[in-house]
Amino acid sequence: MKIAIIGTGYVGLTTAVVLSYLNHDVAAVDKDENKLTLLHTRKSPIHEPGIQKLLDEVWHTIRFTPSVSEVVPEAELVLIAVGTPPKQNGEADTRHVEQAAREVAQVCLPNRHYTLVVKSTVPIGTNQRVVEVVEEVFSERGIRGNISVASNPEFLQEGLALQGAFYPDRIVVGANSDKAVDTLRRLYQPILEQTFDPPTEFPRPSSYHLPPMMTTDPNSAEMIKYAANTFLALKISFINEIAGLCEEVAADVTEVARGIGLDARIGHLFLRAGLGWGGSCYPKDTAALLGVAAQSAYDMPITEAARTVNFRQRERIVEKLRDTLGMLKAKTIGVLGLAFKPNTDDIREAPALDIIRELLSEGAIVRAHDPIAIANARRALSEEHEMDNRLYFIEDVYELSYDTDALVLVTEWEPYHKLELRRLAKHMKTAILIDGRNVYSPEEARDAGFHYIGVGRV
Ligand code: UDX
Repeated sequence: MKIAIIGTGYVGLTTAVVLSYLNHDVAAVDKDENKLTLLHTRKSPIHEPGIQKLLDEVWHTIRFTPSVSEVVPEAELVLIAVGTPPKQNGEADTRHVEQAAREVAQVCLPNRHYTLVVKSTVPIGTNQRVVEVVEEVFSERGIRGNISVASNPEFLQEGLALQGAFYPDRIVVGANSDKAVDTLRRLYQPILEQTFDPPTEFPRPSSYHLPPMMTTDPNSAEMIKYAANTFLALKISFINEIAGLCEEVAADVTEVARGIGLDARIGHLFLRAGLGWGGSCYPKDTAALLGVAAQSAYDMPITEAARTVNFRQRERIVEKLRDTLGMLKAKTIGVLGLAFKPNTDDIREAPALDIIRELLSEGAIVRAHDPIAIANARRALSEEHEMDNRLYFIEDVYELSYDTDALVLVTEWEPYHKLELRRLAKHMKTAILIDGRNVYSPEEARDAGFHYIGVGRV
């Protein structure tokens, strides 16, 4: 199938590469010249495990271009995967989605049918707005165009994006048109029936079952995306709230999570207590959902509370440092992990950045490390700070630990699971480990000479 994808961010690029691997004829459009320059030299602009290799594999068939008019007229299906950044009031800004829809309607041929699919995460009612935009352009052009609009929310997890694209739990389609549903069913047929040869890096999990394609109305499809993200966000916040109480009553939250997770109704996933969620989705989507609710003057106290608990986790880590070190002024703190989660260089809404901001504001000296996100963090922090001489990015964890007063483990990167704790402790001024992700067992860290403080366990 001939497909045009508008936007080559995490969602757009992953989708483009995967659909191309599934033998669709894919052209991806982006206006960002920097991204296009990279893509034209066969380099992925995002860090995502496996994406570079897959891009190499499909290189001879996929196309990247800045021009909607070059690829949309001949496409059968057009996917919109542009950003919906938060506005000042938290609501999602759908300007780019509407603009993309407008451009598509401007160049599509009057005598052809197109399926226009919104993949971006958008407020409820956006699909309908896209239908209106398309109609407006058709009337401006004085044509009777033929575009069916569908919503197809994306559930990709950064760091696991390709695995999730080849082996999704479900595909959700919101559409009022049978034609659009049929086109999307053909698009996803290789995934729905698992008829493709798995890429070497992404073998089909033996326990994997064929995924359902759920079809529904557009508003519900849009709501499914927000509701899914908000539910996961509050599941994490729930266990973090329990973790705080575990610290008060000397219980161990990792044991509690294991115990409640064995209940099939609860499930064990997304019950890892720690520094909570960051990234481009949960913070933005929970705020956007509250924005949607506010427009109907509808209260959502559970969603509000999920956010409050989440951001409190970052403050609590700094409190733990104060409790052990006293005043933080002139103390040297090592921060392990800058990305919001492992296997990505994405630092959007990363807990590490808030923690570093707070430490600097209290006069501490910060030495920070990350396997791949240093450049992004340096850029983000230097934009807002006169980069004083109290923040250092250090590429070697052991060098970083030298003479520090405490280490804070913020992101559970794989290399941080195998640190030589004794060696670290020996180098430090005071061997304090604040384990914001419960990577180490308290016994193991204490045996290595650390004063260990985790989340939700003593
Ligand atoms: C999320 C959704 O999973 C995805 O379906 C949606 O499309 C976009 O948002 P993502 O933000 O990439 O994906 O990452 P995810 O793996 O869900 O983790 C989000 C955050 O939650 C991370 O900061 C992670 O550290 C944190 N987390 C996750 C926990 O603190 N505890 C957990 O048990 C799980």
